[in-house]
Amino acid sequence: MRVHVTDHPLITHKLTVLRDERTPSPVFRQLTEELVTLLAYEATRSVRVSPLDITTPVAPTTGVRISEPRPIVVPILRAGLGMLEGMVKLLPTAEVGFLGMVRDEETLQPTTYAERLPADLSDRQCFVLDPMLATGGSLGAAMDFLFRRGARDVTAVCLLGTPEGVSAIEKTVEGRDVTIVLGALDDGLNEKGYIVPGLGDAGDRLYGTV
Ligand code: PRP
Ligand code: URA
Repeated sequence: MRVHVTDHPLITHKLTVLRDERTPSPVFRQLTEELVTLLAYEATRSVRVSPLDITTPVAPTTGVRISEPRPIVVPILRAGLGMLEGMVKLLPTAEVGFLGMVRDEETLQPTTYAERLPADLSDRQCFVLDPMLATGGSLGAAMDFLFRRGARDVTAVCLLGTPEGVSAIEKTVEGRDVTIVLGALDDGLNEKGYIVPGLGDAGDRLYGTV
């Protein structure tokens, strides 16, 4: 498993505004989209491409295009939905599937309440979007689901992660081709399973409490 923690002043600047409790939802949503586009640049480094012959106004040349089968982007509802536009800006030809998951705030165990994905993901490259990698329960379950459907490799894009979450994913996906791209690796979890210093409840900050 590869873990890439980005180190770029623009990302740290935007994350700082996102973390600030005074930042209102409209700004939070805009910054989330911008951050994902920046993280997506790193996350798509290994996207598969095939050679493509073209002719420029000056000469024939060989470039590349994204290979078939197309990559699939999977936001984990609800908070991952706030990352979708930022990702597909960079990968506009990707297919989009959905997983709805919610973490029980007492037991911290995730349950899946919605799924809209191809039945067969054989040979597909999957990009999972979830802003928060806390205990790793939700992301681990999502990755397990995708690999059971045949995914070739899975890259997760998360705004924030914890050392505990990264270790949990490593155990869950042992031997699989997995990459995690993080905007920042935070200190850890508090007694309620929240990321510290974190940014609070990402879904609530994006969309308000439900
Ligand atoms: C949040 C977050 C992750 C999960 C992370 O979702 O978006 O999916 O918690 O926690 P974990 O790593 O401990 O599993 P939540 O369950 O609050 O649902 P929401 O997106 O609908 O707010
Ligand atoms: N889910 C969130 O939205 N925030 C956390 O800090 C942990 C889980």
